[in-house]
Amino acid sequence: LSADLRQFLDLLRRERPREIFDVRRRVSPRLETTAILAKLERSYRSPVLVFHDVEGCDWKLVTNVCGSMGRLALAAGCGAAELPARWAEACLRPVEPVVIGDGPVREVVLEGEAVDLGRLPSLVYHEHDAAAPYVTAGVVAARDPESGKTNLSVHRLMVSGRNTTGIYMAAGKHLDRIHRRYAAAGESMPVAVFVGSHPLWLLGATYTGSAEREEYGVIGALCGEPLSLVPCLTVPELRVPAAAELVLEGRVAPHATLDEGPFGEFTGYATGRMRTPVFEVLAMTHRRDPLFQDVASGHGEHLTLPVLGIEHHALEVARAAAPGVRAVKIVAPLSLVVVLEKRDDREPRRIVDALAEADIYTKQVIVVDPDVDPSRPRDVLAAVALHAQADRDVWILPDRPGTPLDPSCDSREGRSAKLGIDATLGSDRAAAVRRNSLPEELLDSIDLKSLLRDGS
Ligand SMILES: Cc1cc2nc3c(=O)[nH]c(=O)nc-3n(C[C@H](O)[C@H](O)[C@H](O)COP(=O)(O)O)c2cc1C
Repeated sequence: LSADLRQFLDLLRRERPREIFDVRRRVSPRLETTAILAKLERSYRSPVLVFHDVEGCDWKLVTNVCGSMGRLALAAGCGAAELPARWAEACLRPVEPVVIGDGPVREVVLEGEAVDLGRLPSLVYHEHDAAAPYVTAGVVAARDPESGKTNLSVHRLMVSGRNTTGIYMAAGKHLDRIHRRYAAAGESMPVAVFVGSHPLWLLGATYTGSAEREEYGVIGALCGEPLSLVPCLTVPELRVPAAAELVLEGRVAPHATLDEGPFGEFTGYATGRMRTPVFEVLAMTHRRDPLFQDVASGHGEHLTLPVLGIEHHALEVARAAAPGVRAVKIVAPLSLVVVLEKRDDREPRRIVDALAEADIYTKQVIVVDPDVDPSRPRDVLAAVALHAQADRDVWILPDRPGTPLDPSCDSREGRSAKLGIDATLGSDRAAAVRRNSLPEELLDSIDLKSLLRDGS
């Protein structure tokens, strides 16, 4: 069997015991587990939390497993700075999974009437959220009926009954497209949702880009070994990791919807109720003594997990528009800075146009020269102020694919205006002006120690 969540937690206990914390006192799943994490985050700590006694539930709960790039790097066996290269390599050279007959996730099998989502912890994350519990770390597997490819992505599930949930699938994302294909044929979409994942399974599920690339292969490459899968009980063509903690198998009906939310999201806002399709759970299988995993919405790992996938995809898109793109960085929700070694002054606009279409989570794009460090907000804003003229270098692109999770968006499908700023210095201005500078040799020749000691 390939490495699983339990093995990663053991590794963390051995290698970085300060990054995993056991909470043995009884906690409420309503707001309290989030509050404990939020309080730690206020003191700049983001450990994994294992809750041993969750009110109303027999299962242990683990949260914030992927709450830092350092932990994702530990899982991948590399340094945090090497993660983007590891990610790019995994996208290029996937390692196919292997299918085995049985696995620990089948230790307990509940089918039909025996399915009961009420056995899971009733997690409610923020004060203005719906009172219904959510499953937030579920990786949804579905097969595209046309290509036969399996897609993985993470989707919030609002538990709405013993064996039903709402499932939020953003418009235009692969799972939504697959669902629309089944619906067009009048069919339900079979899905399997697995919970309790090694960090690299969750990370791999955030792959965004070509629908031809199957996430199970990306995960295998990140792990450095093929992922062991078992066939689903109700739909054998769908497979799930043999060592997941929990699997919910079932189907999403073509047209039925229910009221879902409000739900506080990664943006820091809950944007109200929406209608989402309904997931009917036909089978529930889990390990003995299962560990339920969640992602506290809007906190550490929710913000950490999607970064590599979005930045890599945006880098590919931006490079196709202008080969001199050096880096792309997410600097705030829906906001990207692109570092460009410019060959001509039309390139920034080409990059902005391409990115505005390519991803619903890219709403504003600032293009800067290579001497700007995208991780320093002052430098980026200085480039906007000093390199751009607002009536020439700022573009407003109406009606592009965005997200209804953006509190300013009033389109249910997430149609959104986008903003592009060319904060590179125009070539004619670059020839006419000079950055303040001093000769390095002169700076080197000054010995501060002796200068400050006795003025010599
Ligand atoms: C913790 C977490 C929760 C997420 N919740 C949702 C969700 O509820 N709905 C959704 O459409 N995407 C959600 N996403 C984003 C998708 O999983 C992500 O965009 C994924 O890459 C989409 O896959 P695709 O590019 O193959 O369509 C979530 C991501 C994370 C990390």
